[in-house]
Amino acid sequence: MSGTTQSRKAPERGESTSPVVLELRDLHVFYGAIEALKGINLTVRRGEVVALLGANGAGKSTTLRTASGMIAPREGQVLLHGERVDGIKSHDLVRFGIGHVPEGRGVFPRMTVRENLQMGAYRFKSVDKDDLDRVFTLFPRLGERKSQLGGTLSGGEQQMLAIGRALMGKPEVLLLDEPSMGLAPLIVQQIFEIIKEINEQGTTVLLVEQNASQALRMADRGYVLETGSVAMEGGAAELLSDPRVRAAYLGEGAA
Ligand SMILES: Nc1ncnc2c1ncn2[C@@H]1O[C@H](COP(=O)(O)OP(=O)(O)OP(=O)(O)O)[C@@H](O)[C@H]1O
Ligand SMILES: [Mg+2]
Repeated sequence: MSGTTQSRKAPERGESTSPVVLELRDLHVFYGAIEALKGINLTVRRGEVVALLGANGAGKSTTLRTASGMIAPREGQVLLHGERVDGIKSHDLVRFGIGHVPEGRGVFPRMTVRENLQMGAYRFKSVDKDDLDRVFTLFPRLGERKSQLGGTLSGGEQQMLAIGRALMGKPEVLLLDEPSMGLAPLIVQQIFEIIKEINEQGTTVLLVEQNASQALRMADRGYVLETGSVAMEGGAAELLSDPRVRAAYLGEGAA
């Protein structure tokens, strides 16, 4: 599983000097009168895994939705490779190399596994057989269930399908919204290992997780959101050992 690893990462975790792939600048996002993001700044460099943590309602999903063009910010900018893309709709933004696996997975229940994966390649004229093979290699369970309807897959299999579908769009940056949600520990472990492998194969990852400890152990850097603002940011190891993070998100030292 680790055969594809190269010494691509910067020697010091959390100190990558690779080019910035995704940058969010002073994002203000509203739902009606409610300001869900109050000036978010966030940077993701090529090859990194960046964890985005925070309590329920902190604005994690909103951040991903804004980055992938599902919502337009009222103020601020989204930049991909230094190019402003805020205002571009999500189905066009896929062309810029962004893939979003949304909260709740969004598998098409009445389509087969194969058809769901084909949908992920909609921006191309035809489905790349190598991409399909890659997904079935990463997720052998999907390979065994090519003709099964999406809606009849288990929760873990649906998560695999959602990730696989995003990979069919050949993303350079993959936005993952709580991939471990509602899954049994063994499956969570598998999903995390596969995310790591996808990253080692060259895809940059921005990972939203409630499972802070596992996310930080895999990440290079992390951001902690609180009510729409960045409360903390830093190297993953640094955040993992921060007493405030440990108390608030790792269930330790609670009074
Ligand atoms: N469609 C919507 N309409 C109105 N308010 C919304 C909508 N979506 C999110 N919000 C509000 O925006 C804020 C941020 O929500 P968001 O879903 O981004 O949080 P989150 O950090 O992903 O939370 P969770 O961990 O529960 O998924 C919350 O106060 C939420 O109620
Ligand atoms: Mg969310």
